[in-house]
This record gives sequence, structure tokens and C-alpha cells, in this order.
Amino acid sequence: MVATSVQINTDLAFQRCLAPDCGATYGVDEVRTSCDQCGAPLDVAYDWDKIEVPDSLKFFESKWARRNEPLCRSGVWRFHELFPFAPPEKVVTIGEGQTLLHASDGVAKYVGLADGGLYLQYEGMNPSGSFKDNGMTAAFTHAHTIGAKRAACASTGNTSASLALYCGVSKLMQAVIFIGSGKISYGKLSQALDYGALTIQIAGDFDDAMQRVREVSQQLGIYLVNSVNPFRLEGQKSIMFRVLEGLDWQVPDWVVVPGGNLGNSSAFGKAFMELKELGLIDRVPRLAVINAAGANTLYELFVKRGQRWNGGQLDQHVADKYVEEMDRENRRASTIASAIEINRPVNYEKCLRALEVCDGVVREVSDQQILDAKSQVGANGLGCEPASAASVAGAKLLRAEGVIAPSERVVCVLTGHQLKDPTATVAYHTTDQEEFNRVLGSRGVKRAEFANRAVAVPNDLDEIIRAIQLNS
Ligand code: F0G
Repeated sequence: MVATSVQINTDLAFQRCLAPDCGATYGVDEVRTSCDQCGAPLDVAYDWDKIEVPDSLKFFESKWARRNEPLCRSGVWRFHELFPFAPPEKVVTIGEGQTLLHASDGVAKYVGLADGGLYLQYEGMNPSGSFKDNGMTAAFTHAHTIGAKRAACASTGNTSASLALYCGVSKLMQAVIFIGSGKISYGKLSQALDYGALTIQIAGDFDDAMQRVREVSQQLGIYLVNSVNPFRLEGQKSIMFRVLEGLDWQVPDWVVVPGGNLGNSSAFGKAFMELKELGLIDRVPRLAVINAAGANTLYELFVKRGQRWNGGQLDQHVADKYVEEMDRENRRASTIASAIEINRPVNYEKCLRALEVCDGVVREVSDQQILDAKSQVGANGLGCEPASAASVAGAKLLRAEGVIAPSERVVCVLTGHQLKDPTATVAYHTTDQEEFNRVLGSRGVKRAEFANRAVAVPNDLDEIIRAIQLNS
């Protein structure tokens, strides 16, 4: 394999059924979210023998020198030799993925790791403020390739903000977004409205919206960009490519990520699986997927009921039975981390595969643990939205259990920007438990241990000076 020019050609990529005993294939020019033969989800697969894959990941560093070229400027498309499904002239990019890997000793201390042991992969730096832009540029590009004029998604707020942004910037498509009522933070809702998306607010939650958007997009022929769309996950692989680059191409011991619809965890597993197959890394990291306790389907199935990918021979009954129970009891997801308030993750099977590839673990964390961890991310200078902090809370839990060793190198993915959900942040830092409960709901969160309360003072110079001296 030689590191020279990129060959991009639709003959190099295809869609393949995830179920190994089916393995049906479809063209990349087709729009599908599942296999016709068996109903399983689809992967984007490549004929690597026909692709000039670089012989070392170091090859990608040279692209920094060509930042005037849109494909090199994008932190996603810089790696397009590792997901060459679209011709370069069709790529729709706005320079997404220029994110950073930040070593935080303050957060390491909170988690229980040695100095230099904890890294935050800060995806809040993306144009729409969350990791979603990594996948959206890929799905949007695919949509453009096949000539779509409208694109839809159901969302807890970030996917919709991202889709709305790409539609707004490119003017190539109209965004149609489905959200649950009262289930989306104002920061995210304001983005969709401001970018001009057609916003359909359903009387229901994310799981309801997801089901409806699948039906509607099928019936009206609207291109669906939720992560059931396999092209989304191809772009999200680049988050891990950047993590490796940030570590000078060394593989960390752990990658810890929040689990909602399970797109990220699935994409990360696929990225490492492919890099290993291509001989570009010699080992894979361990993966930890962290659910919110109020939206813990993966935790219930993986940990409590022992479901495994099992080389693709998974026992579908286990998951079906669980979903039946949820329906019978009308159990709904409920967590302050609204981005991951999801009970029916669409990438469940792919995530199980990722957990197998990366010898993964799954944990659940309470809203209290999430908000405390979030405050520590903020206090150490980056800040994130509640769902993102599940990764840090999960790392702390796994450290306390001894699953993560104190000397290990851990990357927590911060999926969304702090300003996505200021309501949760301000409520956490409030002085008043009643006010706190009113804003956040009675979620069993006790007044915040790390609250940074505003100091109220009269409009009087002496009093103001005294307050500053008292609190310095
Ligand atoms: N963190 C944030 C900030 C998110 O917005 C999401 C998902 C996740 C984590 C979970 O990631 O689905 O890949 O497991 N948000 C989706 C949305 C569902 O609609 O914006 P996942």
C-alpha cells in the first residue's frame, strides 16, 4: 500500500448487511436504512484492495499544510482515504471537525487518574457546537450525491441543529426536523429555528419522534439523516482518527463515550476495527459506553441480561422481550441529560459489535453524577452539556471500581458545548434547592456539591468590596 493520491470511486464502496449470515450488499448510490433480506442495519464497506490506503497514519499530518483546500481543512474529510464513498467534488463541508484533544489534570484528579492520564476530546468546537457535524457532513454529502432535496431527522436537539446548519449554509436541501415536546434544550431549539428548519414538534418523546420520522421520510421520500443512516457513522469515525493524531498516533487505553442512540460508540468500534484490519494500528483501545440511569437500555441488556454481539449470532429475543416490557409498562426515558434521553437506541446491534471489538464495558450514571462531573469539566476550563459529562462520570465510576487502573490513559469524549443547555448549568449553580427542583424536575439530585453560587450584594461599594474580600 502506498501513500499517494486518493482514488475515490463509487466502485470502491458498498453497503453491506450487518448480519454476518446474511451479508447482502447494496450500492452506495442507494438510500437505505436496513437490509431488504433480513431487516438488519447496514454498514458502509470498502473494497480496500482497490484503495490506495496510506501505509502510515502519519500521512494525514501532511494535510495540515494544505488548509486552503476544503477537504484538507475539514477535520473529517482530511481522513477521507479511510471512508472513500463520495467523489471529492460532491463533498459538502464547512470545515467541521477542527476539534481538540486536551489533557486535563484537573479532571484527571476528579476521576482518580494520574497527571497526564486524562484527555478530553472536545467536540463542542464544531460549527453547530456538537460532535454531530462529523457525521452530518458525511450523510449530507451522500444525500447531495444522490440528488436529495429534503432531509429529515428526529432529534434530542443536536442532530437537528447540525442538519439545519448544513441546510442553511449550503442551500442544497430543506431541513425537516422532528422533536419531542418539552424535550429539547433552548440552546438547541434556538439553533434549528434560527437556521430556518421546518420544525415539527410531536406530542411525545424522542423515541416517538424517531418512529414517526422513519414513517414520514419513507412515505414522502425525504432523505433520513439519523444515525440509522450508515453514512453518518463514516464521518463520526474521524473523531477517533483525531484522537489518535492528538496522541501522536498512539492508541489510548480507554475511550469513554456517552451512549444515547449509540451512533458514536458504533462508529468508534468500526473505526478501530478497520484501522486494525488495515494494519494502521497494532491494538485497539477498550471502549466504555455510559448510559444515563434514566435511559439505560444498553446497560440493562448488556450488563443485567448479558446480551453480546457474539460474532453476529446475537439472541434477538433478549432485546425484543425487553422492548415488550418497556411498552407494557409504558416506561419512558427520563434524565437531565436530555441529549441521551433515549430508550430505543437505533444502533444497538452495531454498538454490541463495537463492544466486542474493543473488549468494552457499559455503565449507567445518575443525574447527580452527571451534573457533578459536568461542573468539574467546567471548573477546569472547557465546559460541556450534561450528556457529555456522562463520559467523565463513567470514567470516575470505572476508576472507583478498579476497572480502569490509575496509570491508564483515558480519553473522554465531550460530545456537546456547554452553551447548548445553560438552564441545567445555572440551575446546578443556584443557591436554592426549591428553584433547582423547579427547573430540573424532581430527579433525585441533591443540592449541588460543586455549586458556584452567585453572591448577592446590595448596590453599595463597601458591601461589594467586602463580598469580594470575603470570597477571595
Ligand atoms: N451527547 C450529545 C451531546 C448528544 O447530542 C447525543 C445524541 C449523544 C451524546 C449520544 O450519542 O446517539 O451517538 O449515542 N444526540 C442525538 C440528537 C440523539 O438527536 O442530537 P449517540
